[in-house]
Amino acid sequence: MKRTVEPKVLYFGTPVVLISSRNPDGTTNLGPMSSAWWLGYTAMLGMSAGSQTVKNLTERPEAVLNLVDPAMVAALDRIALLTGSTEMSDAKRARGYRYEPDKFGAAGLTRAPSDLVDVDAVLESPINLEGRIEAIFDVGGAGSNLRALEMKIERVHVREDLLMSNDRYIDPLAWDPLIMKFTEYFAGGAPAYASSLARGWQMPPMPLPAN
Ligand SMILES: Cc1cc2nc3c(=O)[nH]c(=O)nc-3n(C[C@H](O)[C@H](O)[C@H](O)COP(=O)(O)O)c2cc1C
Repeated sequence: MKRTVEPKVLYFGTPVVLISSRNPDGTTNLGPMSSAWWLGYTAMLGMSAGSQTVKNLTERPEAVLNLVDPAMVAALDRIALLTGSTEMSDAKRARGYRYEPDKFGAAGLTRAPSDLVDVDAVLESPINLEGRIEAIFDVGGAGSNLRALEMKIERVHVREDLLMSNDRYIDPLAWDPLIMKFTEYFAGGAPAYASSLARGWQMPPMPLPAN
């Protein structure tokens, strides 16, 4: 039997990514997100227009996608309810968001220089993808604040232990992406950490291992 339902979210499970983008003052903002997929050397990124990330990338298209592994989950969660934007919607404020200009400091993550773009990468990320936003599309019809950003990947950095013999392949057994499923963190198919995002969204509590 199946039931016809209207779930609050349809986040079936996608990799967590920290997007580096350049703030108006030249510093790097980190935007946690997970509506990301790849087609060839193009990444498609789903983000709300109210995020500082979309504001930055609309004006300054250079970006780094810092892929997140389970070892980074505590750092990631420390900035889960922070925004680099001084303005936010009432809905966002009600979820517990507050303004934070220094996401690296708040997360306890380390800035690393990029090769081709003028934004800092995240040293702790096992995989960093540098590139540029080529197009931004409206998603969700009239009145929606959702955007799909098309990013051309121009340089790929991968931690050595994740590479297979000839460097042309990333080892699927070695790479363990942190997955966000219905606002909860998963690693290797199992719950990974208490999610501040799930708390902000008032999702039903989920049994978790001790953090
Ligand atoms: C694990 C995780 C995944 C998220 N995924 C998305 C997403 O795919 N799209 C989105 O618009 N916001 C997503 N968010 C919420 C953004 O992080 C939030 O909009 C935040 O304000 C972005 O930071 P910024 O405003 O400094 O750019 C996610 C948050 C977390 C913690």
